Amino acid sequence: MTEKVAIVGAGLVGSGWAIVFARAGYQVSVFDPSPEVSERVNDWISWELTEHRELGLVDNADQVIDRISIAASLEEALKGAVYVQESVFETIPVKSEVAKAIDALLKPGMIVGSSSSGIPASKFTETCKNRRQFLVAHPVNPPHLIPVVELVPAPWTDPALLAECRVLMEKIGQVPVTVNREIDGFILNRLQGALLNEAWALYSEGYASVQDIDATVSHGLGLRWSFMGPFETIDLNAPGGITDYARRLSPLYHEIALSRSQPELWSQEAIGKAEQERRQVLSADALADRRSWRDDKLAKLSMFKRENLLT
Ligand SMILES: NC(=O)c1ccc[n+]([C@@H]2O[C@H](COP(=O)([O-])OP(=O)(O)OC[C@H]3O[C@@H](n4cnc5c(N)ncnc54)[C@H](O)[C@@H]3O)[C@@H](O)[C@H]2O)c1
Repeated sequence: MTEKVAIVGAGLVGSGWAIVFARAGYQVSVFDPSPEVSERVNDWISWELTEHRELGLVDNADQVIDRISIAASLEEALKGAVYVQESVFETIPVKSEVAKAIDALLKPGMIVGSSSSGIPASKFTETCKNRRQFLVAHPVNPPHLIPVVELVPAPWTDPALLAECRVLMEKIGQVPVTVNREIDGFILNRLQGALLNEAWALYSEGYASVQDIDATVSHGLGLRWSFMGPFETIDLNAPGGITDYARRLSPLYHEIALSRSQPELWSQEAIGKAEQERRQVLSADALADRRSWRDDKLAKLSMFKRENLLT
């Protein structure tokens, strides 16, 4: 029998999750109390899947769409589900209220993953009676095009369910990363934050333009990063591998780290200048089109990685 999952909250991220699970063969029941969202979600998913069919990312778009249904209540969505992906607003009160409502309907063995970008599960599940069944399953937007998902257990998450969640994510084609214990920003946003903080500092100090700093990543570092991480990168960048790289270059990176030992908030002045620079190359009313352009490029890159076994 086809297994069922529930999607709770169907904004940007929840709708993407619906595609991920339906594409992998699951029946998907979506609950969102906002009437406009419920009405829009099917149209958006159909449009998105038609695009994917054209790119060759899915070959049975109609079957994928048929597996997704809109539930009239949370109870209907959760009935018979083996997994719940919560993707509601990123605030502790909303996450806590939704966790409580889900908790009251949970059956043994069901797992609840929250898409939370930064709030750890311990902040909104502490009083749940089934709190061992909750964890964070943080995706990158859009989850149907970017496969990584960070699994972050609360101190009380059942380790067996964490392991099971990892297997499930692999089964549906995502790439799970287990964060062994809670930390603000998890791993992805801490890495992104390190890069962004340095980019803002360099820009504020006048070392380069927004465009040139962006080019350093899009035409430089980012080419490797689309198929290998920082550790593998340095393992290949010295004749003797990672230890050799560390011996040669760790003093340089230490100096760089010491030069930023007093981190500052991104300055308002720099933000204003960066805004002007960006608006000269992309007007505010062209942002939405450029987001679609980005998703199209992501879909093509994901197709290329799949065809070239770079996953
Ligand atoms: N947008 C991103 O880039 C991104 C990336 C990774 C993770 N996330 C995380 O995913 C979650 C959702 O973000 P989003 O960008 O999809 O937000 P969104 O505003 O697009 O969607 C949130 C949805 O939650 C629904 N909702 C609110 N209360 C609800 C309830 N009680 N029950 C069911 N649904 C309810 C809303 O109607 C809305 O449709 C957040 O935790 C966010 O931090 C977002």
